[in-house]
Amino acid sequence: MKFFIDTANLDQIKEAQDLGVLDGVTTNPSLMAKEGITGAAKITQHYIDICEAVDGDVSAEVISTDFEGMVREGEALAALHPQIVVKIPMIKDGIKALKYFSDRGIKTNCTLVFSVGQALLAAKAGASYVSPFIGRLDDVSTDGLQLIEDIRLVYDNYGFETEILAASVRHTMHVVDCAKIGADVITGPLSSIMGLLNHPLTDIGLAKFLEDYAKGNN
Ligand code: E4P
Repeated sequence: MKFFIDTANLDQIKEAQDLGVLDGVTTNPSLMAKEGITGAAKITQHYIDICEAVDGDVSAEVISTDFEGMVREGEALAALHPQIVVKIPMIKDGIKALKYFSDRGIKTNCTLVFSVGQALLAAKAGASYVSPFIGRLDDVSTDGLQLIEDIRLVYDNYGFETEILAASVRHTMHVVDCAKIGADVITGPLSSIMGLLNHPLTDIGLAKFLEDYAKGNN
């Protein structure tokens, strides 16, 4: 299972990378704006900075919604760094663009996926990753995890190699549940990964071990 961090914040990306368990980064225009990264030149440089801070795949999203624009933007993004994965929205021209990049060996991440049918289309078009947004489904009283389970079933039925990237992960339990279901990748905030560390019995147990060790040394 791969862990991606869903942020454009370089400090958090570096913290996750230092932990030694980070496999990649996903970004989107909203996450860039949140860090004050606006304008094509700054955004481009930020993608390069992120790639240099991590070892794995870095998703960079196109803004165009027409096929020609997506191809132009995606090719420029892919040329920035070998770790760039072109992130493409789940729309009609996006499917065509996924196929275009897949035929040319350029990695893609199909974003804004909310149904099994959309995930099936993305896999047929040769997407490297498909991103179902589980948190946003939960936000509208729909079971996001069920979607991951359903996509897993369909992909396994036919041996699709598209990796299921559970996106819009909001908390640690999402990470654990995605692991149980068999998502290939999760992407979420640093807190959702760091939360995996926590258990009060670990803290109590460690305190006791240290206390008992200290007795022997007094
Ligand atoms: C995925 O690639 C998206 O950037 C992200 O996971 C969306 O998450 P949100 O619903 O918390 O904004």
